[in-house]
Amino acid sequence: MEQTFVMIKPDGVQRGLVGEIISRFEKKGFYLKGLKMVSVERSFAEKHYADLSAKPFFAGLVEYIISGPVVAMVWAGKNVVVTGRKIIGATNPADSAPGTIRGDLAIEIGRNVIHGSDSIESASKEIALWFSEGVAEWQSNLHPWIYE
Ligand code: TYD
Repeated sequence: MEQTFVMIKPDGVQRGLVGEIISRFEKKGFYLKGLKMVSVERSFAEKHYADLSAKPFFAGLVEYIISGPVVAMVWAGKNVVVTGRKIIGATNPADSAPGTIRGDLAIEIGRNVIHGSDSIESASKEIALWFSEGVAEWQSNLHPWIYE
């Protein structure tokens, strides 16, 4: 089953949005396979965002991600990468549709509360980086009520 990496950023944790965000993924029907709160080191944040290292906002982005603990998660389900990104909404909350996490809960691009992998390839890289210890193997009893 497809998996994606989702991180509630420090602003989401500080603002008490962890439950709200988890709830949206749970209610959709996705399965929670990994969950931990972590204070990331600068070098780890730089590795996670390595593809953006040439961008002008990179330094500020790294400062933001290391400014407090984050909640790292692995979610599983059919099309969870693409659907997860839809639930999260556009990168800039000013453009995120109402009903999405960023559309409902954030205002600025540099405080957009959540990260979600943008492809199956980056999901597997990010899961390997953040959950090198592995994730839980389990299947919900609700499976036949979610999938035909
Ligand atoms: P990106 O990977 O383009 O977006 P997404 O998180 O939706 O996959 O960018 C990573 C993060 O960098 C983004 O969530 C917020 C931050 N960012 C800025 O602060 N300014 C910007 O102009 C952009 C494009 C991103």
